[in-house]
Amino acid sequence: MLQIGALKLKNRLIMAPMSGITNLPFRRIVKRLGAGLVTTEMISAMGIARHQEKTFRYLKSDPEERPLSVQIFGEDPRVMAEAGRMVVDAGADLVDINMGCPARKVVKTGSGGALLRSPGRVRDIVSAVRAVCPVPLTVKTRAGWSPDEPIACDIARIVEDCGADAITIHPRFVIQRFSGSADWDIISQVKSKTGIPVIGNGDIWSASRAQEMMQQTGCDGVMIARGALGNPWIFREILDMEKGLTPRPPESGERMEIIFEHFRLLVDLMGEERAAKAMRGLLLWYTKGLPRSTRFRAAFTTIHDLDTMMAVMEAYFSLSTVSTGIPLSMTDPMAYATFGKGQSGT
Ligand SMILES: Cc1cc2nc3c(=O)[nH]c(=O)nc-3n(C[C@H](O)[C@H](O)[C@H](O)COP(=O)(O)O)c2cc1C
Repeated sequence: MLQIGALKLKNRLIMAPMSGITNLPFRRIVKRLGAGLVTTEMISAMGIARHQEKTFRYLKSDPEERPLSVQIFGEDPRVMAEAGRMVVDAGADLVDINMGCPARKVVKTGSGGALLRSPGRVRDIVSAVRAVCPVPLTVKTRAGWSPDEPIACDIARIVEDCGADAITIHPRFVIQRFSGSADWDIISQVKSKTGIPVIGNGDIWSASRAQEMMQQTGCDGVMIARGALGNPWIFREILDMEKGLTPRPPESGERMEIIFEHFRLLVDLMGEERAAKAMRGLLLWYTKGLPRSTRFRAAFTTIHDLDTMMAVMEAYFSLSTVSTGIPLSMTDPMAYATFGKGQSGT
């Protein structure tokens, strides 16, 4: 169990914020499969403070996913505080501050990872948000801006001093972006220097890697990003392992059910056209390493209507011929791709 401020989570496993990915459907799926806490993608504090309708869409939530952490980014303490207050009014159970994003358009404004070059600003932002934020406040950061400035322990001390309730460390430097490997020793160092919970993040690709991180670093919780792409079952697998059980990877029927559910939730959220586009990207992950997946994915890009997409996915994943009428022998994904409305399918 992990407690952040007054909030007791049901376990120590956290779904990381991922821009363009951790929307409401994705969060509901990982929550069902065991994540103790889910996080929105990073949301512009300025967009919120200016009441931009488009920005507010990121705050759409559902009771199923609660508690929900909302991540904000920005560089102006007053704007960050205003946004922090507003996201709590909109239902955030926790507020997380992004201090690690390496994207050029973010760092050039002084936000995200650029904050690691301005510890004074870190102090001002965390203090300002803390002053108005009645829910737990967390900070997600990196090892520092560059290897010449390994500042994670200093940042951790600052954010703790300013009243943050937990810190997440992704131990790569901002200029590394995602290259090289995460240096878990930095998580151990931060853990030994701070009194607030430390959440470790970086390169957890499997249940056993999650256990390794907890054992090696003594971190209080783990946060998973890319390891959950196409494998939301990673949370269940970690929980199984913690109970001494053999992790249960998804059976093919279950894999299909979750993929379909993900697709349905996306359609509800964004309509068929955008959901289909998003699903094409997600299928890259969901089918990684599966037999004939390369051809399936190539074929899938040529389909545009929802019914055909559903039928083709079912044919690829399915063990059943009942609902689609597609015979199991139809194993060529190019054939799946041409199966659709107006065709007999048999
Ligand atoms: C596509 C993508 C989008 C991301 N978006 C965010 C974001 O919005 N906020 C954030 O703090 N980190 C973001 N990250 C970083 C991840 O949360 C995480 O720190 C990083 O991927 C390392 O964890 P992993 O090795 O488990 O992937 C993103 C990473 C990826 C790959």
